[in-house]
Amino acid sequence: MWSLCDHAAALSTIVPTVVISERTQVAIVGAGPAGLLLGALLHRHGIDTVILEARTREYAEARIRAGVLEQGSVDVLREAGVGERMGREGLRHEGIYLSFDSTRHRIAVSDLTGGRSVMIYGQTEVVKDLIAARLVSGAPLRFECADASVDGFAGDEPVVRYTHDGADRELRCDFIAGCDGFHGVCRPSIPGGAIEVWSREYPFAWLGILADVAPSTDELIYAYSDAGFALHSMRSPTVSRLYIQVDPHERIEDWSDARIWEQLHQRLASDGFSLTEGPVTEKSITPMRSFVAAPMRHGALLLAGDAAHIVPPTGAKGLNLAVADVTMLAEALVGRLRAGSDAALDEYSDRCLGRVWRAQHFSWWMTTMLHTDPTDDGYGRQLQRSQLRYVTGSTAAATSLAENYVGLPLPQTALLAGVEVDG
Ligand code: FAD
Ligand code: DHB
Repeated sequence: MWSLCDHAAALSTIVPTVVISERTQVAIVGAGPAGLLLGALLHRHGIDTVILEARTREYAEARIRAGVLEQGSVDVLREAGVGERMGREGLRHEGIYLSFDSTRHRIAVSDLTGGRSVMIYGQTEVVKDLIAARLVSGAPLRFECADASVDGFAGDEPVVRYTHDGADRELRCDFIAGCDGFHGVCRPSIPGGAIEVWSREYPFAWLGILADVAPSTDELIYAYSDAGFALHSMRSPTVSRLYIQVDPHERIEDWSDARIWEQLHQRLASDGFSLTEGPVTEKSITPMRSFVAAPMRHGALLLAGDAAHIVPPTGAKGLNLAVADVTMLAEALVGRLRAGSDAALDEYSDRCLGRVWRAQHFSWWMTTMLHTDPTDDGYGRQLQRSQLRYVTGSTAAATSLAENYVGLPLPQTALLAGVEVDG
């Protein structure tokens, strides 16, 4: 006799599953800053896109991450039509402090780079602005897309399969943009051997807090101390963002607010500086890693942002690299889909990787200069202090830090110049 299960199994072999099929020019997997910005740039140039995101809108908008935008990133966000609130609420900074041995030293970033600066504006706000603009544009943005998989990109039938609203769907397209972050599905779908990977783990992590208190400093403080690294950043004139170096195995439950503030006081201590405490509204621990996968293209699958590379956060480069990647990717896709030219697409990976490796080095260098290594026998700390004295005492060394901090200028693409690329 047949059981109910047997019956259902037999039926499923007879009744074909209904798959809702649609087509677009570029299927974008991931609605982080990379995917959303790519969608905005392509939309402005008349290219059809569908953005698929695994999480809810609320989750995507609440994820606290980066806070420093290079001037080039600010320019691209303006060009994408989402610069208005950033212009009003963002904080323009022209320098940073390096603190060590009880003294704060200012690096006059703008003076050393011909007037370039950075903007303090949270990644959460960038994402909120991009989502709002996308929804106004009416272009498709789907949250809670489960079980995404990518296929056919080595040939000429790229497709993204996923489930949404209880239905199986397939999205056929000309190109797939893998903007799904470090843990996404796109990079692992590239056949082994077609991609090379470099990575480094660090013996420390960052514990970050948001606090409802006016920043105790006018510009960011990167602090080196025997107790470990600390960073005083901010989100607005009334919200502070602070980080301390911790062991990667630490659990956030073991860090009371009082314990975190005690470490911040100790590590940020310097002559004339006093830290004001306030209610902590968010706290979390982030591991640190360097990672690069190359090339960033496999056929019609193009990787961008954290899907292709990760940096430790000390240089504030992760978000900025994602912005640079998708600026170049948008130009390449517009060139291909509107003007029929493969030139920029063929150069996409190499163009990105040049600045990716510069940011990899800078992030590694800032990280190793400012964090205390638990395995160090004391020699490393002498080198770190020597390097900090050099960077704060030599205009040449300070200029090198400043140039990297504000970021390489983005190549002057047609997109950035606001030029319509005619088909
Ligand atoms: P993400 O922001 O990771 O976005 C990827 C998106 O893809 C996510 O929304 C994800 O939900 C979605 N996704 C994943 N898998 C799928 C799937 N299968 N289907 C559909 N969607 C999928 N940088 C700094 O400069 N300073 C910092 O302080 C800093 N802090 C950070 C803290 C954390 C915890 C992390 C993880 C990163 C931090 N970074 C920081 C780095 C910076 O936030 C990233 O470089 C930036 O978010 C990269 O943007 P992205 O769009 O490439 O990737
Ligand atoms: C912030 C993060 C960084 O990685 C950094 O270098 C500076 C500031 C921030 O979250 O504000």
